[in-house]
Amino acid sequence: MYSRIAGTGSYLPSHVVTNADLERTVETTDEWIRSRTGIRERRKAADGETTGDLAYQASLQALEAAGVDAADLDLIILGTTTPDLIFPSTACLLQHRLGANGCAAFDVNAACSGFMYGLGIADKFIRSGATHKALVVGSETLSRMLDWSDRSTCVLFGDGAGAVVLEPSEEPGVITTKLHADGAYKDLLYNPVGVSTGFLDEPNHGVRVMMRGHEIFKVAVRTLDRIVGETLETAGMHESDVDWLIPHQANLRIIEATAKRLGLSMDRVIVTVDRHGNTSSGSVPLALDEAVRSGRIERGQTLLLEAFGGGLTWSSALIRY
Ligand code: UT7
Repeated sequence: MYSRIAGTGSYLPSHVVTNADLERTVETTDEWIRSRTGIRERRKAADGETTGDLAYQASLQALEAAGVDAADLDLIILGTTTPDLIFPSTACLLQHRLGANGCAAFDVNAACSGFMYGLGIADKFIRSGATHKALVVGSETLSRMLDWSDRSTCVLFGDGAGAVVLEPSEEPGVITTKLHADGAYKDLLYNPVGVSTGFLDEPNHGVRVMMRGHEIFKVAVRTLDRIVGETLETAGMHESDVDWLIPHQANLRIIEATAKRLGLSMDRVIVTVDRHGNTSSGSVPLALDEAVRSGRIERGQTLLLEAFGGGLTWSSALIRY
């Protein structure tokens, strides 16, 4: 028994924030942002628009594409670091809005790997026979977590959501997934406050992204290189078997380094970072859905998905679409 992707969906808030907009608020330039990251613009959720709202729209699309009724879902996993509420989980809020009441529903906090962790978990549930229809979502409103006066982070991130519906299949489907974490690297990328640690008497109660970008960059390139090799080895496949790389969209230079390692030319790599920025757990499913809907990714092709983020966490999935 395997799982397969039955349908994909995504959603982006309508408000676009360009590099020129940011030039007016912090000491930065369009040239710096584009040359260091590849980002030209990103989306920002409207006032009152939540992670759950974005997840809901992406999920409706994925369910429709899969031809699955929400009432038939028996598992919902939502990757996010920006939940609507501390509890209940955004997955539970989403479950009720979709009308899937009664099925298992929970959030996964693995930062930018949240969707990929959800995919790995849902794949195992389906392979075990416990689950027949799973919805896996990555959704974020990172704009709410940013310090908009910190040029080293506010230019990098964006809001958005993506979703997939998984169902059982006799053929793969999801060939293999790899999930990793190393908490020793916590200080490279984190948010310094929380319910248990406490909040600060600062703007936004101290909620902000703390990042040592240059160090993350180096660890990301090294780690993604390793996980790509590990994933292909487990599957007994080679770089040349991969039709599309669907990477985490944090930085175009990291994406190019991974593609080079795979020997894939950039026209076999799905890139959305230029228009979406880094949407954390939303980034991989958003890129996947965009490429499916534009007709670039076709049924039967082999996809390599990978993500990397705070934790540190890193993850991959090899999929026959
Ligand atoms: O998804 C989670 C994982 N996150 C990542 O993968 C992020 C990985 N890291 C990166 O993408 C890159 O390290 C950054 C884009 C964050 C930074 O690029 P960099 O080439 O590593 O630059 P840097 O951090 O070494 O900074 C270079 C200079 C610094 O100035 P000095 O010290 O050389 O005078 C920064 O202060 O660029 C300055 N700088 C900026 N300048 C203009 C930092 N942010 C900005 C900015 N505009 N927005």
